[in-house]
Amino acid sequence: MTAPAVPPAASPAAPLALLAELTHRCPLRCPYCSNPTALTRPGEELDTAIWARVFQEAAALGCLQVHLSGGEPTARRDILDLVRAASEAGLYTNLITSGVLTGGAKLQALAEAGLDHVQLSVQDAEPASADRIGGYRGGHAKKLEFARLVQASGLPLTLNAVVHRQNLDRLPQLVALALELGAGRLEVAHVQYYGWALANRDALLPTRAQLEAATATVEAARRALKGRLVIDYVVPDYYAKRPKSCMGGWGRQFLAVSPAGRVLPCHAAESLPGFDFPNVRQVSLRWAWEASEAFNRFRGTGWMPAPCRGCERAEIDWGGCRCQAFALAGDAAATDPACALSPHHGVLSLAVEAAVEAGFEFTYREPQKVPG
Ligand code: SF4
Ligand code: FES
Repeated sequence: MTAPAVPPAASPAAPLALLAELTHRCPLRCPYCSNPTALTRPGEELDTAIWARVFQEAAALGCLQVHLSGGEPTARRDILDLVRAASEAGLYTNLITSGVLTGGAKLQALAEAGLDHVQLSVQDAEPASADRIGGYRGGHAKKLEFARLVQASGLPLTLNAVVHRQNLDRLPQLVALALELGAGRLEVAHVQYYGWALANRDALLPTRAQLEAATATVEAARRALKGRLVIDYVVPDYYAKRPKSCMGGWGRQFLAVSPAGRVLPCHAAESLPGFDFPNVRQVSLRWAWEASEAFNRFRGTGWMPAPCRGCERAEIDWGGCRCQAFALAGDAAATDPACALSPHHGVLSLAVEAAVEAGFEFTYREPQKVPG
């Protein structure tokens, strides 16, 4: 793949954020992981110098923040150098972590290297269930200890709870946990069904009754905790009438770099067939963002089929999610089946009916060797 000498005449607006997927290695094995089912091997990961260049290029492109993610980003031995490089590039740095690999000294070093924010995942409010869901014994206790270290350090903390049929009934306890741990924000994130999550969909989809109770819990908590805790919450696609604006629209606000260097419009796009995603080993981030076919294919509204074409919501939800369109309709260029106007919308209610009849067994990710 060769970069053109001049970028296209109408350059897209700058992205807001970069998701840097530093590694797929992770001590946890969450069955709702959105990593691809074929994980990048440690020997294929980008080295420190290339990541440092990527951070500089992201800042030059106009990115304001970087989410350091994975897998588990602290599984990288060079995590301090990476945080320092991102901070020196002028990016606001957010560490998205399971918290089980980081003690007090390492957290202190991360803060000194320029870390601005911590986003900690929790699997449940009940320890035995949390450890079962994450596939990591003792993990919940380590997370609580880590959260207390973050609180003591003064770094802002967001708690991220991925919710599904097997933990949604404990949403009130998750809200209480966020308060107890001093989080300023709680993300109540319904599972997105790509990668491993799609393989576990039957064991994860919530019931309608659970969903209605959860929505009521969030609304009450938002009223009661105004000014103390911000709660992010979006109705899950499988019960929605209109899709979410995935990534704020393909190639509009966001880009991701995979552990092996592929530049992606979303973290799950690697599973889409028929794409030649650019790689930061060969091209600049600017070229990938502005000129690559992969970023331009679904940018804007020109690519849209009916019923999106001409729809009054075309520039609100941008046709929904391309990865979900591929997963459920077999065509990444189709209207997201989460939209009730899609001819494929019925597959969502069929999936929900099947899941309610299904059991609770998970297919776990294989354990990953960490650190390395
Ligand atoms: Fe959104 Fe397309 Fe549905 Fe209109 S038809 S609401 S643009 S997904
Ligand atoms: Fe890929 Fe929505 S997750 S476009």
